[in-house]
Amino acid sequence: MYYVGLLGLGTVGRGTFEILSDPAGRNPLLSEMIVKKIGVRSIEKHRALQLNQQVLTQDLDSIVSDPEISIVVELLGGLEPARSLILKAIKAGKHVVTANKAVIARYREEIYAAAQEKGVYVLIEGAVGGGIPIIKPLKQSLGSNRIQSIIGIVNGTTNYILTQMSENGADFADVLTKAQQLGYAEANPSSDVDGLDAADKISILASLGFGGHIKREDVYSEGIRNITATDINYARRLGYVIKLLAIARGNAGEDSDRLELRVHPTLVPQSHPLASINGVNNAILVEGDPLGQVMFYGPGAGSGPTASAVVSDIMNIVAILKSHGTGATLDPLLSRTHQHYCQITPIEEIESSFYTRLITLDRPGAIGQIGTCFGENNVSLQSLVQIGLEANQAELVVVSHNVKEQFFRQALESIKQLEAIKSISSVIRVLD
Ligand code: HSE
Repeated sequence: MYYVGLLGLGTVGRGTFEILSDPAGRNPLLSEMIVKKIGVRSIEKHRALQLNQQVLTQDLDSIVSDPEISIVVELLGGLEPARSLILKAIKAGKHVVTANKAVIARYREEIYAAAQEKGVYVLIEGAVGGGIPIIKPLKQSLGSNRIQSIIGIVNGTTNYILTQMSENGADFADVLTKAQQLGYAEANPSSDVDGLDAADKISILASLGFGGHIKREDVYSEGIRNITATDINYARRLGYVIKLLAIARGNAGEDSDRLELRVHPTLVPQSHPLASINGVNNAILVEGDPLGQVMFYGPGAGSGPTASAVVSDIMNIVAILKSHGTGATLDPLLSRTHQHYCQITPIEEIESSFYTRLITLDRPGAIGQIGTCFGENNVSLQSLVQIGLEANQAELVVVSHNVKEQFFRQALESIKQLEAIKSISSVIRVLD
């Protein structure tokens, strides 16, 4: 029998416990695991749960130091005490399974160095994409490829919100509350809606795909708070949907050791594979040489799906322990160990096409002046549509050709100075 210690009994913790307590019809290895202890902040809060209350403890350290426990499953979320407990578990020679993207995105190097020294595994399938297998494919199944790009919808909450806004014209705040009730959202909604959770996830995927350390603070992130029903409607009329994309892209040619790494709302052509990913689902499109494109799709958040990934990690460890013996020193096999930090291209230097919506006074010469500001900053336009508003005002929806972000921003700065401009209502990048 293999003893497992769970840290945390929140949404994913409960899902994990449910799978482990109901092994019938699943892989027989699940019957060889016993959840010995579950660490919680308050035992009182879990009194009503149907489980042997003896396994609950508020002493989290007693789990990571229990000599009988060989696998510690960290599902507390947040940075501390999660990071310290993971490190203590490793130092005590335990294998660790975690779904904690925030900790892994920031302390991966420290945690993996400690794990390598002790010869234990740290598996993180639940950290990205909920129930979608993406970590193991990037580490192993796609390992023979040169990865060119990883583009994902990796936050279920924001995808759910954008889908509801788009399908029902629903209001941002109401949909966020619903997502929280459904157990998709992080305790602090900023992490989802400001793109921080997606930035954690893409930094983990990029590190695996491109084989280098990523400094989490190098990931540019912008969330969906400013996305309005108006932009969703105009985007639809132009042939796009708006999605929060997490993008990691290698640069070919001279800058081949540089990566683009960013999270932002994006206009995605309706014909693109990521355009039809709706609700809480996630999808990750990986492009590699010689593979071409492969897309991983499925439920990206929630109790059951994330627990499915967590339990499969526990199972993989048990399978290895069974074949090597519990005392064996394991090589964290097939996970690339990195020596260098990836250079990240600053967002100002990245080329994109841009959508922008401007409110102007509807008077002679206004469009000409705006066109001049774009032209003087090397911004070439794909389309410009004027929609009449009330009271002598007009709304202009402009889509540019690909241009370095700094030039587009400079053009907007000079447009802002024009007397005819009332406001620049939105600026959204377009996926090429
Ligand atoms: N809050 C996250 C999401 C949960 O919405 O995707 C999974 O990491």
